[in-house]
Amino acid sequence: MRSISAILQSDFLTKEDIIALLTTEGEDKKLLFETSSRIKKQYVDDIVYFRGLIEFSNVCDKNCFYCGIRKDNVKIKRYNLSDEEIVNAAVFAWKNRYASIVMQSGELTGSTFVNRIDKLLKTIHQRTNRELHVTLSCGEQNKETYRRWMESGAHRYLLRIESSNPELYKKLHPDDEKHRFENRIKALRALQDTGYQTGTGIMIGLPFQTLEDLANDLLFMRDFDIDMVGMGPYIEHRDTPLYQYKDQLLSVDERFQLTLKMVAILRIMMKDINIASATALQAIDKIGREKAIKIGANVIMPNITPGKYRDDYKLYENKPCTDENAEDCSNCLEARIAMAENEVALGEWGDSLHFRMRNTK
Ligand code: 5AD
Ligand code: SF4
Ligand code: FES
Repeated sequence: MRSISAILQSDFLTKEDIIALLTTEGEDKKLLFETSSRIKKQYVDDIVYFRGLIEFSNVCDKNCFYCGIRKDNVKIKRYNLSDEEIVNAAVFAWKNRYASIVMQSGELTGSTFVNRIDKLLKTIHQRTNRELHVTLSCGEQNKETYRRWMESGAHRYLLRIESSNPELYKKLHPDDEKHRFENRIKALRALQDTGYQTGTGIMIGLPFQTLEDLANDLLFMRDFDIDMVGMGPYIEHRDTPLYQYKDQLLSVDERFQLTLKMVAILRIMMKDINIASATALQAIDKIGREKAIKIGANVIMPNITPGKYRDDYKLYENKPCTDENAEDCSNCLEARIAMAENEVALGEWGDSLHFRMRNTK
């Protein structure tokens, strides 16, 4: 087996290399983080882009076993922001020079939902002088819907694969048409074909997940030639079926460290992509997101959902910032990013360099 420093000097990581890096401790781990940090500075600079996150509805038609807002969880209050509230949040982001927003919701299909997003996209662009870049994170849709939304002004799309191992995917989702692994792949492909900057991601520290699975997840992202990634630790939620395996999980601290290593390795493998520092990192460590910024992530998504709804968008427990409002989060975050010796690039779209290069080839 190659030494860690030899692995870190090579241009192309194999599965075995990745697994070796995922198990680093002490000096080797330090070397991994120093390398990823250096590559980040070299390729995307010590700059962080803000994406104002609007969690506009927690109504979901799916039943993923890990997620707190799954359809069958009757313990949560469902909400749906009004169009006006969503547009106002977008205008807030624009006025505060975030340059970009993410509109995220539970997964719904059907013409009411599709038309609503369509109309919202148009209104938001009209009200913000077409200066905002909009990312959607609204789940699996058909190609025609993705095309329509793009035509109405969506630029980027996030759709996590959750796990690239079809067997593991099956253990995390019900066995029915709505939750097929193949459909997720098809949707990701459709997004890329439509011309979106396409983002995916996974959860780290899931029950049944092995280091080999995680290594394969990173290889999947490379093979799929993805433009953006958001991955974070899995955090169990008591009102979900996966909670029964809580005693088999890695400790939260181990999940946290593993996530940082995943971010670092991905930065080394895909030097010019956008990597988001997952909010779930902050649920474990108060400065968790800043730690990820330091070793490779370059995107943060401040929550700009109106305060009164935040508590109800609980995909996992201990979700941070549920008592704050948008101004609090943006002030707090700027200070934290400065602490990580990075700078916030306000007023810049921050497109994935990888996407730009791919499209100018
Ligand atoms: N822990 C961490 N992340 C979660 N997500 C859903 N449930 C959890 C959880 N319990 C993530 C999924 C989904 C994203 C919106 O939130 O990866 O794609
Ligand atoms: Fe719905 Fe997404 Fe949660 Fe699955 S992960 S239940 S699709 S909100
Ligand atoms: Fe929300 Fe600090 S980022 S309060």
